[in-house]
Amino acid sequence: SDFFVEKHLAGQHWLITAGPTREAIDPVRYISNHSSGKMGYAIAHAALRAGAKVTLISGPVTITPPVGCHIINVESAAEMHQQALEHVKEATTFVACAAVADYRVANVAQEKIKKSNDAMQLDLIKNHDIVADIAQLADKPFIVGFAAETQNVEQYARGKLMRKNLDLIAANDVAKAGQGFNSDDNALTLFSAVDKTEIPLASKHIVAKKLVSLINEHYQQRYRT
Ligand code: PMT
Repeated sequence: SDFFVEKHLAGQHWLITAGPTREAIDPVRYISNHSSGKMGYAIAHAALRAGAKVTLISGPVTITPPVGCHIINVESAAEMHQQALEHVKEATTFVACAAVADYRVANVAQEKIKKSNDAMQLDLIKNHDIVADIAQLADKPFIVGFAAETQNVEQYARGKLMRKNLDLIAANDVAKAGQGFNSDDNALTLFSAVDKTEIPLASKHIVAKKLVSLINEHYQQRYRT
C-alpha cells in the first residue's frame, strides 16, 4: 500500500529543523556550513503528504518550503533554539535535521572588523544543544536526531543517541561523495537503542519517504496501547 495515500500520520504534528545556522562575526560576516536544507525540507514534504501537520524551522536556504507547512525562518542557533522550544509543545514528533552551529562568536563586533595584523583570533562559545534540550522536557515528543559524521559513523551516531537521550538517530556519512551536505541524493542509517536500518543511496525525496515511514513504525510501537 502507498504510504502517502494511506495518510498514516493523520493526527500527528511534526516539528522539523532544517538548513544551516549563521553565527554573526560582525555586521557583514558569519560562520556557517554547507547545509542546503534539502534533506529537512524533503522530510517535511513527506510528512505532509502522509497526513501530518508540519512546522518547519529553517535556517537560511535558497529552496522553497513545501506547500502546507508552517514555515519559521531563523538565522542563528540561538533563534532556532528559541523557536524550537516555543513550538515543541504542540509536536508529537521532533526531527532535528538542521546543521546547527556548535559555537557562536563570543563578542560580535558592532562595526565591520578592519583588516590589520597578519593573524587574528575569534573567541567562540558553545551554543545550547536544541535536540538535547528538547529531550530533557518532561512532556516531550518522539525525538529523532541526525548525526553528520566524517569517520567512526556508527560509534559517534550511537554516542549521540545515548548522550542526547534521543529515540532514534539518522547517521549521515558526509565524507562519501554524492551524498550528505548540499547534494540531491543521500543515504542514512537509522539507529534505535536496539536496532539498525539502512536507507540506501537515493534522491533525498525517496530517502525522506522511507525515513518518515520508519519513524512512524517506531512511534506506533512506542505509543501502542
Ligand atoms: O541540508 P542538506 O544540504 O540537505 O544536508 C543534510 C544534512 C547533511 C545537513 C543532514 O542530513 C544532517 O546530517 N543533519 C545534521 C547535521 C549536524 O549538524 O549534525 P551533528 O552531528 O553536528 O548534530 C547532531 C544532532 O544534534 C543533529 O540532530 C543536530 O540537528 C542537533 N544539534 C546540534 C547542535 C546544536 N546546537 N543543536 C542541535 O539540535
